[in-house]
Amino acid sequence: MSPPTFVRCDRSPAWAALRQHFDSTGRQLDLRRAFGNEPQRFERWSLQAPQVFADLSKNLIDEVTVAHLIALAHETGVLARRDAMFAGAEINSTEGRAVLHTALRAPKGAATPFNAEVHGVLDAMLAYAESVRGRVRAGEISDVLNIGIGGSDLGPAMATIALQAHALPGLRSHYVSNVDGHDITPVLAALDPRKTLVIVASKTFTTQETMANAAIARQWFLAGSGLGEAGIARHFAATTTNVSAAAAFGIATTFGFWDWVGGRYSLMSAIGLPVAVAIGESNFRALLAGAHAMDRHFAEAEPAGNLPLLLGLIDVWYRNFHGFTSRSVAPYHQGLRRLPAYLQQLEMESNGKCVDEAGEPLPFGTSPVVWGEPGTNGQHAYFQMLHQGTDVVPVEFILVKHPDHPHADLHTKLLANGLAQSQALMLGKSAAEALAEKAPTASATLDRQVLAAHRSFPGNRPSTTLVLDRLDPASLGALIAMYEHRVFTSAAVWGINAFDQWGVELGKALCNALLPRLASGDTSGLDASTAGLLRQLTS
Ligand code: F6P
Repeated sequence: MSPPTFVRCDRSPAWAALRQHFDSTGRQLDLRRAFGNEPQRFERWSLQAPQVFADLSKNLIDEVTVAHLIALAHETGVLARRDAMFAGAEINSTEGRAVLHTALRAPKGAATPFNAEVHGVLDAMLAYAESVRGRVRAGEISDVLNIGIGGSDLGPAMATIALQAHALPGLRSHYVSNVDGHDITPVLAALDPRKTLVIVASKTFTTQETMANAAIARQWFLAGSGLGEAGIARHFAATTTNVSAAAAFGIATTFGFWDWVGGRYSLMSAIGLPVAVAIGESNFRALLAGAHAMDRHFAEAEPAGNLPLLLGLIDVWYRNFHGFTSRSVAPYHQGLRRLPAYLQQLEMESNGKCVDEAGEPLPFGTSPVVWGEPGTNGQHAYFQMLHQGTDVVPVEFILVKHPDHPHADLHTKLLANGLAQSQALMLGKSAAEALAEKAPTASATLDRQVLAAHRSFPGNRPSTTLVLDRLDPASLGALIAMYEHRVFTSAAVWGINAFDQWGVELGKALCNALLPRLASGDTSGLDASTAGLLRQLTS
């Protein structure tokens, strides 16, 4: 099936209409006035998607903005492209591949592409995960070490941490990704090879970092376990599309997946094995079900009530009209502390592109910088900049209604903090208000007007608040799918391919060329800076 043609956003009538709307009124939208004028603004701009409630009302949008954005989605072919993705068209044009991570979470028997193959691997992978859990309960295995990088690390690591409350007691999960030996060395030092399962996770099974760490882990196992090569069979498993390379490495237990699963979209493929070991089959199936519910929502909900679509369109509005260059993610749940890193790969590797599908340079900005830390830690670090800095950074708060700990008082404080931050960003504080306040810690000698200038906040800073009932497998699955489809939406509007990552290739090739020079010290033909640094490092 061939992918649908697209109309690049800047050539669509809706883009021109958005520009006009931005220049006339959109730019000046004031949230405080908007809430004053529209008593129903919260109800109007909040919606319940599967597992995720979203308050969009503190965004710099109104009816006209969103009507134009939805027209933009229609005109650029976002919906046709979405349907083509679900149907298995080769929308990853530069690699000639379909994009079917949604097929990974379709229920057994669904009329989705590769359904039988997907469930064949899933059933086998989950049966293996359950057998490992049995070995954990029997005291035979205590630790699972996942060796992978990028999508073969960030998703499973994030999910394992997020779902800690659902994990098998007594099992410790570890993730090693970096080729820096400071990553693997202390991890291996603390593990008993006879009680460890090592999972080598790599879509390609060629990634330098992963292969190097896997070789170290293999040596460590052979040297320390006393079980010899035969022990590898019970203590190593691989998750990869390159089953023959895993076999050549000596790993007999391999769970495969397909080239139509992008690395950063692979958490719900066999790459999720360490998560499945930690949380068990029924929880892993609940993760898939949560994602599937969000997939159906994205595929079926009307644009005006379609959460991933609206979020992606608002991202375009901020990036290309307001000119905001970054977005901060503030999960108010410690379990989501690796979510920003996961989203960095998802969004920036997908949409950090400067040419469109036809290879033409883009005259507008694409992926924002996505960054963040869990609340409340971020408040005591960089929130100063979010409130009073010269740049506007839309913030995304993620609040979870019910915690998985017994300290109700802490949870109330956490929620109050999250709510207060989004309120403060929006309301700000005028110089007059600051002047009227007492500021016990402020200088007693400084001119009061000067002090008020320092103590005022511009406000009108946009934020989105997402609310989960609890952080559990189903809600995490839905949240992940929501982000995937949101990234899809902005990519489709921009007319870029969100599913390749050629930008990582050059560094890999240059690294391979430099490797022998680090041993030989040969600097001939290098640029002066690289040559100088190489001498500095090798002398
Ligand atoms: O270098 C980028 C990348 O290709 C990512 O897209 C991918 O998730 C990561 O490397 C790891 O790749 P693999 O799973 O093939 O080892």
